[in-house]
Amino acid sequence: MIPGGFERYLRRVDAALFAAVAATAISAATVGPSAHAEDKPYKIEKDGTVDWSTFSGYRRYHSECHVCHGPDALGSSFAPALANSLKTMTYDQFIDVVVNGRKNVSASSDKVMPSFGTNRNVMCFINDIYAYLKARADGVLPRGRPKHEPKPKAAQEAEDACMG
Ligand code: HEC
Repeated sequence: MIPGGFERYLRRVDAALFAAVAATAISAATVGPSAHAEDKPYKIEKDGTVDWSTFSGYRRYHSECHVCHGPDALGSSFAPALANSLKTMTYDQFIDVVVNGRKNVSASSDKVMPSFGTNRNVMCFINDIYAYLKARADGVLPRGRPKHEPKPKAAQEAEDACMG
């Protein structure tokens, strides 16, 4: 069983997306409070300062995803540029791929997108990662480490509850 905080966090969200991993770990849960599926899940000031969630997404992306998807979401020879993917992918499609992973069966390669559905370092921050990638895809966030607002107390509390 998953300890309390994480499960509670996940239960807040919609149910179908975690189906594929339900048997192994996270039952009857998913990640997708529709609030985060909004068009612009990020906030960027005129001077380039970003909200905490977008900065958190920047950090998590560069610890969990960039080895395959390249720095600044620009892609690599191994995996696609998510700054392009997020121009057309919906929030639900994004969550589905991250939770369940994907192997492109039509491609004659063995490149695999791993499943992150049980990885708290990813799933506890998935909406942050989405916000960051969406900002990159929308062309409103330049390459590199952005300036950011201080970490809000609520963000720390949500993180503590989810990470357990
Ligand atoms: C071990 C390498 C690897 C890591 C780490 C990785 N990915 Fe992937 N990812 C891939 C590959 C390879 C594909 C393409 C799979 C395919 O073609 O089916 C992919 C595809 C995707 C797609 C679909 C893109 C599209 O254009 O359809 C998304 C979204 C995605 N990854 C998000 C992430 C996120 C977010 C992270 C970090 C939490 C991450 N990936 C970490 C290898 C990786």
